[in-house]
Amino acid sequence: MKIRAAVLEKFGEPLEVQEVDLAEPKAGEVLVRLVACGVCHTDLFTASGADPSGYSPAVLGHEGAGVVEKVGEGVGSLAPGDHVVTLFSPQCRECTHCLDPRTNLCLAIREQQNQGYLPDGTTRLSRDGEPIRHFMGTSTFAEYTVMPEIALAKIAPEAALDRACVFACGLSTGIGAALNTAKVEPGSTCVVFGAGLVGLGAVIGCRLNGAERIVCVDPAETRLELARGQGATDTLSGGPEAVEQILELTGAFGADYTFEATGRVDVMRQAVESARMGWGLATVCGVAGKGETLDVVPRFLITGRRVAGSSFGGVKGRDQVPQFVDRYLAGDIDVDPLISHTLSLDEVNRGFDLMHAQDGIRSVISFDA
Ligand SMILES: NC(=O)c1ccc[n+]([C@@H]2O[C@H](COP(=O)([O-])OP(=O)(O)OC[C@H]3O[C@@H](n4cnc5c(N)ncnc54)[C@H](O)[C@@H]3O)[C@@H](O)[C@H]2O)c1
Ligand SMILES: [Zn+2]
Ligand SMILES: [Zn+2]
Repeated sequence: MKIRAAVLEKFGEPLEVQEVDLAEPKAGEVLVRLVACGVCHTDLFTASGADPSGYSPAVLGHEGAGVVEKVGEGVGSLAPGDHVVTLFSPQCRECTHCLDPRTNLCLAIREQQNQGYLPDGTTRLSRDGEPIRHFMGTSTFAEYTVMPEIALAKIAPEAALDRACVFACGLSTGIGAALNTAKVEPGSTCVVFGAGLVGLGAVIGCRLNGAERIVCVDPAETRLELARGQGATDTLSGGPEAVEQILELTGAFGADYTFEATGRVDVMRQAVESARMGWGLATVCGVAGKGETLDVVPRFLITGRRVAGSSFGGVKGRDQVPQFVDRYLAGDIDVDPLISHTLSLDEVNRGFDLMHAQDGIRSVISFDA
């Protein structure tokens, strides 16, 4: 079928919205009609050429929500009409990692996905017979996409898809970092560095788990305002004094749990240094630049602080994304303030501009717009 999609042609240049061909879903695959899709830093990172593993031509986009139109042979868990959120981090439910509660890093399709192919090593996207590669296994800057069944989370049909799409990436990453990676305990003190979608998600996760104190750190006052709205009890503007200020706020000991959601290695270090002696856990969510390293004075570790990393918040997507969406429907998670602009597919590059300008938390492409 012919579909419209935003294609990355040349790194560093705007995406080109154009007509491309999308083939039928093969065995284990599903055709999804996209209703909404968030615009994320990772799309921009690849489009800019800064990502050394990027490839083109490719259809970008990975924060999709939509409706199943058709299923390929052998697909048992989804049927036409189901509402789904796309997962760049799949869950096959069979590999060693999927069977282990300690990780969400499914091993089933990693290699093919990283190279821009569906699990059988080919693409469903093409133009004049020439293949176009899939991005993050999702390619959701498009009216339709074909994805593996194991990379789709079936959600409650009552959830608005232009809200549900933010659970495809940053929001679930932050919430999961608090719930799965750190396992925040009730009554604890938490610090979250960064109040983008990931950091705000971590604030939400800490609140959901009953943290007593949630300190959010970000130089942008408008974002701290949003953090307070999501449950932050204290806010700081960050910078070189942040660790000292946090120690002051916490009786000189530091926080039970700290979260880094900035992508800056100097802030990751602050997250370690502001974690409490004895048991403080620093959870790193940010993606640092290529070649950058985290500098930690070992004394911080000897005296009982720990460091953990969190990919997609440790969320096993097919199981847990639907649960998060249910908590949104129950009123436990307030998604509306996180969505600032609604765009059409043709305006996708404006989504990147808004991100550059730090205008709002998330722009969402609406395919009905
Ligand atoms: N681990 C994962 O699976 C995963 C998933 C999605 C995103 N990420 C990464 O998480 C990070 C955050 O993503 P986002 O979408 O929330 O980004 P974002 O750019 O919207 O938010 C980052 C925030 O950090 C703030 N900041 C900058 N300097 C700071 C400082 N010195 N102290 C405190 N805050 C500071 C910025 O003002 C901004 O609000 C990025 O590195 C992103 O690549 C990771
Ligand atoms: Zn994303
Ligand atoms: Zn798996």
